[in-house]
Amino acid sequence: MNNVNSFRFDYNNMLAEFVGEKEGFQPSELAALKPELDKAYATVEAGRGKGMMGWMDLPYNQGEIVAKIKDCASRIRSKCEYFVVLGIGGSALGPTAVFTALCHLKHNDLPKEKRGGAPKFYVEDNVDPERMQALFDVIELDKTVFNIITKSGATSETMAQYLAVMDRLKAAYGENIADHVVATTDAKKGNLVKLVAKEGFESFVIPDGVGGRFSELCPVGLLPAAVLGIDIDGLLEGAAAMDAKCKEADYTKNPALMAAALSYLSMQKGKNICVMMPYADSLRYMSDWFCQLWGESLGKAVHLDGSPAFVGQTPVKALGVTDQHSQVQLYTEGPFDKVITFLAPEAYRTEYVIPTGCEDIPDVGFLGGHTFNELITAERIATEYALTKSQRLNNTILLGEVNANTVGQLLYFFEMQTAYTGAMLGIDTFNQPGVEEGKNATYALLGKNGYEAKKQELDAKPAKRADYIIG
Ligand code: PA5
Repeated sequence: MNNVNSFRFDYNNMLAEFVGEKEGFQPSELAALKPELDKAYATVEAGRGKGMMGWMDLPYNQGEIVAKIKDCASRIRSKCEYFVVLGIGGSALGPTAVFTALCHLKHNDLPKEKRGGAPKFYVEDNVDPERMQALFDVIELDKTVFNIITKSGATSETMAQYLAVMDRLKAAYGENIADHVVATTDAKKGNLVKLVAKEGFESFVIPDGVGGRFSELCPVGLLPAAVLGIDIDGLLEGAAAMDAKCKEADYTKNPALMAAALSYLSMQKGKNICVMMPYADSLRYMSDWFCQLWGESLGKAVHLDGSPAFVGQTPVKALGVTDQHSQVQLYTEGPFDKVITFLAPEAYRTEYVIPTGCEDIPDVGFLGGHTFNELITAERIATEYALTKSQRLNNTILLGEVNANTVGQLLYFFEMQTAYTGAMLGIDTFNQPGVEEGKNATYALLGKNGYEAKKQELDAKPAKRADYIIG
């Protein structure tokens, strides 16, 4: 049994020896990739802390910020019953993933004393009008603190939510609302900076060089985590521990570099889909966070030199064991276009014994006396076996247990795997021109000043033909 903070990346079933020669990789293929891996490693190390790679410094450079976050969090915890994050993309997916991993799975349904004194927690990313209204139906405004998180301060979804919240706060408390809002945004740029100055909100900075999907270990994620009572020092220590493993230049010893190598080889072999399949409800939203990180970072039309790329691997989320009864048939017998990553704790934080009963029905009775722990683990091992038997590439990440340290390791591992893979693909891992295009088109459709040309471009697109619409 490994210790609770252990992190193991098991890639046996990516190799020909285990998954068969047709699909699996030979150690010689990995060895042949060494020059490219060395280059990717050197590129990432050279970028450490520079440009949009400021996230690599986050495990080390936040001493003062962490103290300020803890102070703010303790004030919020003492005065509020509801803590609401307004944000989208990295500003929402990271806080949700860490909350789900490290708080009680039914946190919001528990009384406050069983929540460790933490407020109820909501992350509002979508702008579904029914959801916006639903939030106000469940919170009590006088007991709520809103954390508005946006690096640009211009994201329509987040700023629309901000306007909705401000409208209610001002109607209730006039100008006396600063206590209800904490802003997390860029140090100098953007609209939220102006609003912080105007309204007097407490604020935290998203450091330069930290993009949305790489921001969970800065105040974007650390403030909500601290409000929830999560050990934020542990998260950062875990990230630093993974960074230490990733300082190893030898790809056979660096887990994120090996994972990147296998991802790169898989993509070259036409495996254009990667499935993230945690076997733990606590890790289910880690898949959502990973999907943004992998999809937005690697899905690119051009290489760094401007030549066509059209690369990326479509991330898909699944949940073990639930999706064994939904998606696994496809993964086992469908096209050979996927790599499945299992993600699981070696030890669950609870043991639950399946009671004995139904002794006269052996098909059911055999379960009695086992534990749910044994059942979920057996199902993961069995699914891994079935996939491997049908020659499907798969690998497994095993955490000692789900705790702040291993979650910090996991977040940083995926960030490093993404950075190495992007370097091997020769793309800009840290931009998102495809997202910006959609943001700009939204501004144009809603008549924002400065987007008149974009509106004309949209108006000029061919009108949809009614005869191609049924119903
Ligand atoms: O990774 C990214 O940068 C994006 O997905 C952003 O997180 C998302 O678009 C929200 O942007 P902002 O923080 O500017 O509101």
